Amino acid sequence: MKNHLGREEGLGLRTLSVHGGERPDPVTKASAPNLVMSTTFVADPDAGFSVERMGADAPFVYTRWGNPTVAQLEKKLALLEKAESCVAFGSGMAAISALLLHSLASGDHLVISDVTYAAAAEMTNDLFPSLGIRVTKANMADLEALRAAMTPQTRLVYAETPCNPILRLTDIAAAAEIAHSVNAKLAVDSTFATPVATQPLTLGADYVVHSLTKYLGGHGDAVGGAILGRKDDLDVLRKRVAIRTGGILSPFNAWLIMRGLATFPLRMDAHQRGAMQVARFLEKHPQVTRVVYPGLPSHPQHELAARQMRNFSGMLTFQVRSGRQAARVFAERLTIIHYAVSLGHHRSLLFYIGTADMLETSFRLTPEQEASYREFGGDGVFRLSVGIEDGDDLCRDLDQALVA
Ligand SMILES: Cc1ncc(COP(=O)(O)O)c(C=O)c1O
Repeated sequence: MKNHLGREEGLGLRTLSVHGGERPDPVTKASAPNLVMSTTFVADPDAGFSVERMGADAPFVYTRWGNPTVAQLEKKLALLEKAESCVAFGSGMAAISALLLHSLASGDHLVISDVTYAAAAEMTNDLFPSLGIRVTKANMADLEALRAAMTPQTRLVYAETPCNPILRLTDIAAAAEIAHSVNAKLAVDSTFATPVATQPLTLGADYVVHSLTKYLGGHGDAVGGAILGRKDDLDVLRKRVAIRTGGILSPFNAWLIMRGLATFPLRMDAHQRGAMQVARFLEKHPQVTRVVYPGLPSHPQHELAARQMRNFSGMLTFQVRSGRQAARVFAERLTIIHYAVSLGHHRSLLFYIGTADMLETSFRLTPEQEASYREFGGDGVFRLSVGIEDGDDLCRDLDQALVA
């Protein structure tokens, strides 16, 4: 794939974020990407009706099979992640469920981070075991625990790093080696890190998964997801799972996400700068009992973070003495930061995640894992997604809401 410059090799991430995958329209010469909302395309009368015989460079037939706007986004994402191929989905969860369906069959074994985004945790508690797939949850900050979880039936290791919401990290290169030792593949949910920080495929991972809803789209106005990996593998995934189960991305959302992507490396710089300032401010605040941010030397895996992440991203968690009560005060008093779920937007977002809620709804951990989570979590954590506003303003907003 070439952009209009005719070459991609050696181009920096900022140049690829603007130009990668895009080409001026050959007919109109439009410089910005076209938004093609057509569901169907005038077809060759000899074209087949089944996707089975669809070749890799087949013309567009039907938007669930492929769409020019979505294809441009997929090419841009592949360049940013140094991937051979990308398949876009209607949400991060659609991408994750498609990857699990593609990788696992009855009798197979999945090893997944014991703390992940709640819906991934819930899906692997219920849906996948009901399909005859055995699931083990392991603390992937602990490589011995990961090694111990592997079996000859393990087909996929699924790591979320940094993980939502406690910002634990997995050493991707080491996890890849462990997965490959039993012929399993390694998938990394890199939503929190983004390709500005880490490119998991270059460290040995087989798949990268993103919720495009977060940093890559970046503006809180489009839900989307993506899987990246090897072309021969993703060609099969696209036909067998994406097109048939149908969780594809709308061209309009692809267009919005592509517009967001143009400024994504610049935003990540601002997210990191703001998060570092806010993390240092909270660490010194008398009402705050703990701050967890991979960029702080106090993060238990700071050394790994410094080695594996070129940017520490904008996500931090903190604790205060009475979390639930503080959540009510925050929701009422914050004037800039929105008390809301989601993350990775230009706007700062704060949400309280109670430990009891998490343990009851999401994780269903072994007693040892539960003990380790409770030890980390106390009564709960505030997850703060630091936006791109001025750090001084965010600190002032938190300070006036952090009342005794
Ligand atoms: C790490 C991570 N992965 C996946 C998802 C799911 O993404 P989506 O909401 O786009 O389905 C989320 C959502 O918060 C997330 O935080």
